Amino acid sequence: MIDLPEFAGDALDPARTGGDLCIQACADDGQVAFHAIHNLTRLALGSATLRYLQTGFGRTSSPGSGAGTSRNLLGFRDGTDNLVPTDPDSMRTYVWVDGGDQAWMRGGSYLVARRIRIHLEAWDRSTLGDQERTVGRLKDSGAPIGATNGNQPVDLYSVDSSGAPMIPEDAHIRVAAPSTNHGAAILRRGYSFADGTDPTTGEIDAGLFFICFQKDPALQFVPIQLRLASQDALSSFLMHTGSGIFACPPGTSPGQPWGHGLV
Ligand code: HEM
Repeated sequence: MIDLPEFAGDALDPARTGGDLCIQACADDGQVAFHAIHNLTRLALGSATLRYLQTGFGRTSSPGSGAGTSRNLLGFRDGTDNLVPTDPDSMRTYVWVDGGDQAWMRGGSYLVARRIRIHLEAWDRSTLGDQERTVGRLKDSGAPIGATNGNQPVDLYSVDSSGAPMIPEDAHIRVAAPSTNHGAAILRRGYSFADGTDPTTGEIDAGLFFICFQKDPALQFVPIQLRLASQDALSSFLMHTGSGIFACPPGTSPGQPWGHGLV
């Protein structure tokens, strides 16, 4: 497994970066997720110590499209153009590790996590038009600029009457799109977070705990994030404050413990 490189603008807090093991507990009620983590850390007492704990809410980047897609803290729908987990072809192509990797990882996936703080005060000061040009989509419907509803495909070649691209060159959805990243795609599954205030500025410490899954981070997350860090208009509103990369072995089958083949 690779280490993630340093990306332009990274402001990683060592206390929220790295770690040997990662547990993601999801539930409709935060108390249930907390109980799972609490019990697992209790069982690990003496062998493992909790490095950091990140709570989140309101799954963003949920697979789906248009009106059904939930909103992130920017107020925009997130997850419209995500990979769809029920599509076996795209999961096979982009998410599940295959024979090219170590045997114990076949059928598993690699998780990249980034704690991304959003400078909400600066975002709130920008106009609706600027926000939409930054993302490349309309805030209300989630439609790509130039289209009328969220289900319409993104047309990166569409131009306005003056010949300028409808979706700006530095719009988030253009810079992140598989078609501008040599076909690299990831399954995004992030959550919003709100961790009180930043004592140094008094601003809200909130944003997106970005999580993505992929077959090969060196060919997927890394090249996408390298471009986003230097070319994405949205990055001027963001600060990456935590980071991690973890190998997720495949699920279990009867008689086989989790991580079978690794130990
Ligand atoms: C706080 C940080 C971020 C926010 C608020 C954000 C927000 C959004 C929004 C609103 C969309 C449009 C809706 C959609 O298609 O899902 C989107 C699309 C996307 N984002 Fe992000 N994003 C963030 C960080 C990232 C990062 C770090 C990556 C990858 C390294 C990423 C990759 C993508 C991709 C691949 C798309 C779909 C592009 C397409 O094919 O149209 N995003 N994001």
